[in-house]
Amino acid sequence: MGALSFASLQRLRLGAGLVLFVFVTTHLLNHALGNISLDAMEWGRKGFLALWRNPVGTILLYGALIVHAALVAWALARRRTLRMPAREAVQLAFGFSLPLLLATHVVANRGAHEVFGKDDTYAYVVLSIWVWDWKQGVLQTVALLVAWTHGCLGLYHWLRLKPLFQRWRQPLFAAALLLPAFALAGFAGAGKEAALLARDPLWTQHQMARVGGFTQAEVAWVYATADGVRWGAFAALLGLLALRWGRLALERRRGRFSVSYPDGRRVAVERGYSVLEASRVGGVPHASVCGGRGRCSTCRVRVVAGFESLPLAAPEESRVLERIHAGANVRLACQLRPTKDLAVVPLLPAAAGMREAHRAEYAHGGEREIAILFADLRAFTRFSEGKLPYDVVFVVNQYFRAMGAAVERSGGRLDKFIGDGVMALFGVEGGMQEGCRDALAAARAMAEALAEMNDHLKHDLPEPLRMGIGIHAGPAIVGEMGYRQAVSLTAMGDAVNTASRLESATKDFSCQLVASAAVADASGLDFSAYERRQIEVRGRAEGLDVVVVPDARTLPAPAPRRGRQLLMRSS
Ligand code: FES
Repeated sequence: MGALSFASLQRLRLGAGLVLFVFVTTHLLNHALGNISLDAMEWGRKGFLALWRNPVGTILLYGALIVHAALVAWALARRRTLRMPAREAVQLAFGFSLPLLLATHVVANRGAHEVFGKDDTYAYVVLSIWVWDWKQGVLQTVALLVAWTHGCLGLYHWLRLKPLFQRWRQPLFAAALLLPAFALAGFAGAGKEAALLARDPLWTQHQMARVGGFTQAEVAWVYATADGVRWGAFAALLGLLALRWGRLALERRRGRFSVSYPDGRRVAVERGYSVLEASRVGGVPHASVCGGRGRCSTCRVRVVAGFESLPLAAPEESRVLERIHAGANVRLACQLRPTKDLAVVPLLPAAAGMREAHRAEYAHGGEREIAILFADLRAFTRFSEGKLPYDVVFVVNQYFRAMGAAVERSGGRLDKFIGDGVMALFGVEGGMQEGCRDALAAARAMAEALAEMNDHLKHDLPEPLRMGIGIHAGPAIVGEMGYRQAVSLTAMGDAVNTASRLESATKDFSCQLVASAAVADASGLDFSAYERRQIEVRGRAEGLDVVVVPDARTLPAPAPRRGRQLLMRSS
């Protein structure tokens, strides 16, 4: 394993887990066919066997089983402390209980098929565990639920850090509940059908003949082998714990270091522990959304003493730190294994969850060159006077929806709605040039959307809605700002104030858009058709060159984007 990095091993474990999850899913789908009939189950089984009982499927399935179990055992042996969040403990306990629960079922079916050539038909299996030995039926029901829960927890642990997961969360949750429910209902339906059919001894004899019958010796082999699997799993677990204990005993000889926390607590642990593990040992609450896998960054700490003696960050840790634009003395507590005393300040509250993990990238804030767009409805106060509140809210929401969609389609990030105004940021990821192009594309799209809206609402509006847009670009402080639920990505700085002033300047020029010349030039678009002016901007010593655009719909069409907006929206 030495040649493989920790991240590669994690990916391997995940890949193996996904193969097993697909196996369990297809197995449950096959069970669910029992809601139709026993024959439907047998029909589905043909596809199931074609998938998993050929040489490739067999190697994939059992290879994944061995790799997954070995890597989980390795991860457990590496742990310095067995303290862990409840969800992780449940997932681990369920995983370890599976060999005990499934040994007889697997040996009696796949094992007997491989060794004695038995054909483990659904009719035979259902007869065995529903009609003849209902205790096995209960055991297999428990095993099914345990295996499914174990897989779903693993999948959730992996997917929850993906931005798209929030959108798919509910359908996935529904599927996670419905599939085992249908599978168990299918099993029960097939069980009842088999019990009825078994009243006819000829049918039962026929089923036994299809399987090939079991001799006493074969039955004894099944039970002995299943017991062997269970004892083997138990011995492996004990061996693992002994290995872990031996390793910790050795580490104890290598000396200790201590971690100090802002509340004055000091936790001393053996070398080899990570800072996150030290927090767990000392009972110090510490955020760790990804469970210490170095993916979420919620465990990050600022090292306030002892930084110079720390080992350098591994490439995986550096990548995460870079992604969140972490300061020089910030490290991931789950990856940092100090050798000398240090003092840290956890940077996120212990209860930090997915929300914080997703916005970790901007949590520290930083200066970026971006384009900023402000838009405001003209004379809206006059429109709202004398209107029912319902009508005002309806029109404003229509307007916000149309403007928000135009911004997002153009690759921008909606910063906020202020009264009837909109503020949006462009180029947060792609840089200023791209941001300027996107902001101008958004202005054009917003103007088109407003014209469309005016057309739809022409019978309800005393006069068409009008809008002023200002766009400027430059360095701004970009970061997550706000309080509790009101935290969002926003920008501050001179460039932001200037963009806002340009929006106000549209009133002076009676036009729809005023963009700074810097934006027009950086966009690379042709602005020769528009008037250039120089204006005074409060707070700036020098005048600012701007481009005056009477109607933003006439702006040059932007080059087509390549799907980046989806990525940005989802983040
Ligand atoms: S716990 Fe997720 S990166 Fe450390």
